[in-house]
Amino acid sequence: MVRTNGNPFKPSAGHTPPLLIGRDEVIDDFTEGLGDGPGAPSRLMRITGARGVGKTVLLSEFTRIADGRGWKTIRESASKGLAARLVTRLHSGKGSFGFTINPSVNIANVAGGSLGEFHYESPQQMPLTLSDALRNVLDDVEKHGHGLLITIDEAQATDKDDMIAIATAAQDMNTENRNFAFVFAGLPSMSSKWLNDDATTFMRRAEPHTLADVSLDDVAEAFEDTFSESGMTIAGQALSTATEATYGYPFMVQLVGYHIWRLASRRHPLDPVISMEDAEQGIAKALSRLGDMVHGPELDSLSPVDKTYLLAMAQDDGPSSTSVIANRMGKDLGYASTYRARLLEAQVIEDKGYGLVDFAIPYLREYLREHAAYIRMSIDPGN
Ligand SMILES: Nc1ncnc2c1ncn2[C@@H]1O[C@H](COP(=O)(O)OP(=O)(O)OP(=O)(O)O)[C@@H](O)[C@H]1O
Ligand SMILES: [Mg+2]
Repeated sequence: MVRTNGNPFKPSAGHTPPLLIGRDEVIDDFTEGLGDGPGAPSRLMRITGARGVGKTVLLSEFTRIADGRGWKTIRESASKGLAARLVTRLHSGKGSFGFTINPSVNIANVAGGSLGEFHYESPQQMPLTLSDALRNVLDDVEKHGHGLLITIDEAQATDKDDMIAIATAAQDMNTENRNFAFVFAGLPSMSSKWLNDDATTFMRRAEPHTLADVSLDDVAEAFEDTFSESGMTIAGQALSTATEATYGYPFMVQLVGYHIWRLASRRHPLDPVISMEDAEQGIAKALSRLGDMVHGPELDSLSPVDKTYLLAMAQDDGPSSTSVIANRMGKDLGYASTYRARLLEAQVIEDKGYGLVDFAIPYLREYLREHAAYIRMSIDPGN
C-alpha cells in the first residue's frame, strides 16, 4: 500500500534529497576535522563542482553535523557586502548589538561608520572588524567547549575586498588556534579566480574537494531504498533504465525519481510496483524539466558565440574535434579556443584530450539539437 506521505524526491536547488548519494568521503573528512581540533586541514575546505551537482546540499549537511555537536553555524552566500553581513550576523548571534547593515551596501563603498562597538574607517580595516567579531563569538562558544562553522556558498562570486577580509580574519583565528571551521563552495571558476591572487594564498591552503557525478550503483541503491521507504518497489529493467537515465548527475536523480514516483502513485496506488512504462514516461518528464531548469538557464547565461560553439558541437554524436568546431563556426582555431576555454571553465564542456571536447552536462546535446532553430534565432534575431 502506498503511504500517504508525499513524494520523497526533491528536484529543486538546495533542497536536501531523501538520500545524499556518494558524499561519504567528503563528509567523513569534514567530521574528522571537527573532531581533530583547531589546525586540522579539513577545517578549511573549498568545494567546487558544476551546477546541480550538490554543493549547497553538502553545505547543509555540514551545518547539520556541526549543529549536532552544539557548534554555532553561519551560512552565507557570496554577494556584495559579504564581510559586512558576516560581522552583522556574528554580533546578532550574541544579541548585544542593535544595528543592521543594508546588505546591498558594499563595505568598500562606505566611507566610515560604526558597527556597534566596532569602529571602521575603510575597507582595509574590515579584516580587523571581522577578526574582532569572530573572536567575540568564539570566546563565547569555546567556553562551552563548542566551535563556530561558517559556510560560504556561491563563493565564485565573492568580491575581492570581502575575500581579503575573510582570508585575513581566518588567518588570525588560525594563528590564535581558535575552534572554528570555514567551508567555501562554488562553481569551478572559483578556483582559478582565487588561486591566482596573492592576497588569498589562504585559499590555496584550503583542502580542495571536487564534487563529481555519483556512481550508478549508488544511484540504483538509492532508488531502491527511497521507493521502498514509501511503500513502492522498483527493480529489474525499470530500475536499470531509471538509473542509467540519470548519468549519475544528482539533480537528474531527483528529477527522474520524482516523476516516476508521481506517475506510479497516480496510476496504480494499490499495486505500487514500478513498471517499465512508469520508468520510461517518468524519464521523459524528467528530461523536459531538466531542459527548463538546467539547460535553458545555462544557455541564457552564455554569450551568443558560446552558444554558436555549442551548436557546432551538437552536430557530433560524441566528442568533437576543436579544429572541426572552428571550421563549422567559420573562424580560426585561436578565435574558437577563447570560447572553448570559457566553456571549459564554466564546466559546460569538458576536455577529452587529443584536441577533443565533449558536453559536461547530461542531455545538453539533445537539448541543443531539439531547440537549435530557436537558439539560432535568439543568437541573431535578424535571421
Ligand atoms: N549527493 C546527492 N544525492 C542525491 N541528490 C542530490 C545530491 N546532491 C544534490 N542532490 C540534488 O540535486 C539538486 C541540486 O543540488 P544543489 O542545489 O545542492 O546543487 P548545487 O551544486 O548547489 O547547484 P548550483 O551550482 O546550481 O547552486 C537538488 O535537487 C538536490 O536534492
Ligand atoms: Mg547551490
